[in-house]
Amino acid sequence: MDSLLSVKNLTVAVGLKAVVNDVSFDVFGAQIMAVAGGSGSGKTTIGLSILRLLPPALRIGQGSIIFEGKNLLDLSAEDMRLCRGARIGMVFQEPLSAFDPLFTIGQQLEEVLAAHTQLTKQDRQRKVLEILSDVELPDPLRAYASYPHQLSGGMRQRAMMAQAMVCDPSLIIADEPTSSLDVTLQVKMMELFVHLKKKKNISFVLIAHDLGMISQVADEIIILREGKMVEGGKVDQVMGCPQNEYTKQLIEAFQ
Ligand SMILES: Nc1ncnc2c1ncn2[C@@H]1O[C@H](COP(=O)(O)OP(=O)(O)OP(=O)(O)O)[C@@H](O)[C@H]1O
Ligand SMILES: [Mg+2]
Repeated sequence: MDSLLSVKNLTVAVGLKAVVNDVSFDVFGAQIMAVAGGSGSGKTTIGLSILRLLPPALRIGQGSIIFEGKNLLDLSAEDMRLCRGARIGMVFQEPLSAFDPLFTIGQQLEEVLAAHTQLTKQDRQRKVLEILSDVELPDPLRAYASYPHQLSGGMRQRAMMAQAMVCDPSLIIADEPTSSLDVTLQVKMMELFVHLKKKKNISFVLIAHDLGMISQVADEIIILREGKMVEGGKVDQVMGCPQNEYTKQLIEAFQ
């Protein structure tokens, strides 16, 4: 089976220092790939490399990122912009930063569809309401008409997920998507990931340092330390029988 995303020998540097060092992994269809590791280990840098949204100080020195058969590193800026948002969605830690406070959630989601599809206004509205219901917002019509600040933190997180999904992407990059939520809401959010994976066939690159949380939902995992991948494989295998000393320490820290 061909992989949906294949990161090969990715190296990203700040000046001469590699902050991601020769990292390779594959993500298949409808799969959750967890990227775990301590603070500063290069998790966010990997996510931003896939999206080609690295800050100017960070340079990709080597490697390829093949997504749906194309090397993202070779795409023009315009093709990459089309890919982002349409084929690859993104979810970050702080949902308020994903939205403009001056427009309703419905307006902002429809805006994404207007930028990426030919749908009519009526179809855009229908699609947005459908997606707001897919992310299991209790009252999609209310969320549609709400301004970002009118929703609770948990609801905003779901609205951000809806924004990432509105163009039916095959992959979502989620960077610490639940860190701003309390534990009960974190669990619910993780359940939503699994639900969306099964129902919508979406794959996730799920970046987090909380091994306990992600190991419940991920299929595969890679463990990073100071930019290097120290271990990777099926979650049950890595968590159940870690081979690397650092992985063992990380697991112990979250038990
Ligand atoms: N704009 C930047 N300029 C210089 N160095 C940077 C920049 N962004 C990140 N780095 C460095 O790259 C390394 C990896 O950072 P990254 O944000 O990818 O780590 P992380 O694993 O996501 O950490 P955290 O768990 O704290 O979010 C760190 O050493 C960081 O200091
Ligand atoms: Mg990070």
